[in-house]
Amino acid sequence: MSYPVDMTVTPEVSAHFDEDTNTISYIVKDPSSNHCAIVDSVMDIDYAAGRITYDHADALIAEIQSRGLTLDWIIETHVHADHLSAAPYIQAKLGGKIGVGEKIMIVQDTFGKVFNEGTEFQRDGSQFDALFKDGDTYQVGNMQGFAMYTPGHTPACMVHVMGNATFTGDTLFMPDGGSARADFPGGDAAQLYDSIQKVLALPDEMRLFMCHDYGPNGRDIQWETTVAEEKAHNIHVGGDKTREDFIKFRTERDATLAMPRLIIPSLQVNMRAGEVPTDADGNPMLKVPVNKL
Ligand SMILES: [Fe+2]
Repeated sequence: MSYPVDMTVTPEVSAHFDEDTNTISYIVKDPSSNHCAIVDSVMDIDYAAGRITYDHADALIAEIQSRGLTLDWIIETHVHADHLSAAPYIQAKLGGKIGVGEKIMIVQDTFGKVFNEGTEFQRDGSQFDALFKDGDTYQVGNMQGFAMYTPGHTPACMVHVMGNATFTGDTLFMPDGGSARADFPGGDAAQLYDSIQKVLALPDEMRLFMCHDYGPNGRDIQWETTVAEEKAHNIHVGGDKTREDFIKFRTERDATLAMPRLIIPSLQVNMRAGEVPTDADGNPMLKVPVNKL
């Protein structure tokens, strides 16, 4: 697959860090129009109380409104297991199309079973407005974006590239953070390595924007690096690390990791494009499958 990389376009990237989930949401503005995209929004949840709020999403919405921007796309890099998407809430206020990778159907099939969803839960990706295949392009105003299929962390992960800005999702972390786990259902460490190589094959000067940062070794939170920096210094794939090194390390490390705190609500909401499921009476309701994850 050859991708339509265009390093001459420099979008304005505005980052919004969510302290509760260590997620970074982005507003990406076309430099030659007032159109923008959002990548990986967050809906706030107090899981212990079953309470959903929208402070983080409202900040994104307020920025887009105050800058007078038109929202073309609300992109999910994948079905996140650690935070809930606010895509439908944002779409109701600002419009825009919600897009995700077409392999969402695999994720919906897997977790449709885990959560014992009935036949009313469609497993065909129809909750989303667009399903991206590898290399698919889309417009944000005059700026062309494209999706790269990057499975491994999950089977539906896509990395999104707009001009000289790339949104890595959970394919890569900052150089001192390494990479995301590959042990969720449908995850695969070897696939993740190969997907990371696709990202590292982009031009050295490509700006990379992370979906998460945890401030390893006590440093401040960061979210932006470059392909050159990752190739040279990433602690899991940089320098002279081999594919075999990566698979061994990733597999051993993943065996020690606990489930993410918000995986149960996140999957139920995110596999529905950010809609909260409802009970038989139409009230928002989340399930907890026992001993299934
Ligand atoms: Fe993730």
